[in-house]
Amino acid sequence: MALVTGGAQGIGGAIATAFAREGADVAILDMQKEKANEKAHELERFGVSSVAVCADVKDESQLKIAIETAMRQLGRIDILVNNAGINSTSSVVEMTTDMWDEMISNNLRSVFLSSRAVLGPMIERKHGRIINISSQLAHKGSAEMAHYTAAKAGVIGFTKSLAYEVAIHGVTVNAICPGPIDTDLLKRLPEDWKKRKFSELPIGRAGQVEEIAPTAVMLASEEGAYYVGTTLNPNGGDVMV
Ligand SMILES: NC(=O)c1ccc[n+]([C@@H]2O[C@H](COP(=O)([O-])OP(=O)(O)OC[C@H]3O[C@@H](n4cnc5c(N)ncnc54)[C@H](O)[C@@H]3O)[C@@H](O)[C@H]2O)c1
Repeated sequence: MALVTGGAQGIGGAIATAFAREGADVAILDMQKEKANEKAHELERFGVSSVAVCADVKDESQLKIAIETAMRQLGRIDILVNNAGINSTSSVVEMTTDMWDEMISNNLRSVFLSSRAVLGPMIERKHGRIINISSQLAHKGSAEMAHYTAAKAGVIGFTKSLAYEVAIHGVTVNAICPGPIDTDLLKRLPEDWKKRKFSELPIGRAGQVEEIAPTAVMLASEEGAYYVGTTLNPNGGDVMV
């Protein structure tokens, strides 16, 4: 079974669909209960089992209960996608401590919490895949997003260190760093920020969620086993690494 955090919509939703299309059972973990239920229902058309579990990934006990519920209903977790994330903008000078803490909890601490929660059984079985959704802004930085870029760069550091710890046990940990993708998260960003971003983007357009999902499918596959602690960059040329 694959568990996708923030899988009710956007990039996580497309990854969940791509996994179901490949025949995987999928658990959608999201704080939007109705949308998560709708998504799980939608995935059943691929002939797989799917459940929605509601949790805020910032909340350790909610997360633990949701992961246990998903496992009770669909069995073991073979693939974890840490995708749930938020964004907001502020200069560092004007950024409140709460804004900083909220971002780090939502986009970085959550990745640690959910990874730790699933690792034990993966190590025991000598098989597992953890895929963390970072951002190309982790490589590049961005004015008015120091909290977001710090969290996403932290995700890359966490990915590499955890990969060192568990690769020998058959568990791979990798990150995907998307460029600007046409989702609600991008729509909510200020128009002037998006104008600046698109003017410097070689491909000249936002990506579609379907252009990110295949990277996750590849990393989750048996053939993806030799990717360890890497970051893959479907980003329209924003950062050429
Ligand atoms: N859209 C982009 O341009 C872009 C680029 C690079 C990286 N990303 C990353 O991709 C991931 C998905 O973003 P998206 O663009 O699909 O956004 P989105 O807003 O469309 O979807 C995010 C999903 O995560 C869920 N979520 C957010 N915080 C949560 C929490 N605390 N607990 C449980 N669920 C939560 C939301 O309910 C939503 O379903 C994020 O980590 C984001 O930072 C997005």
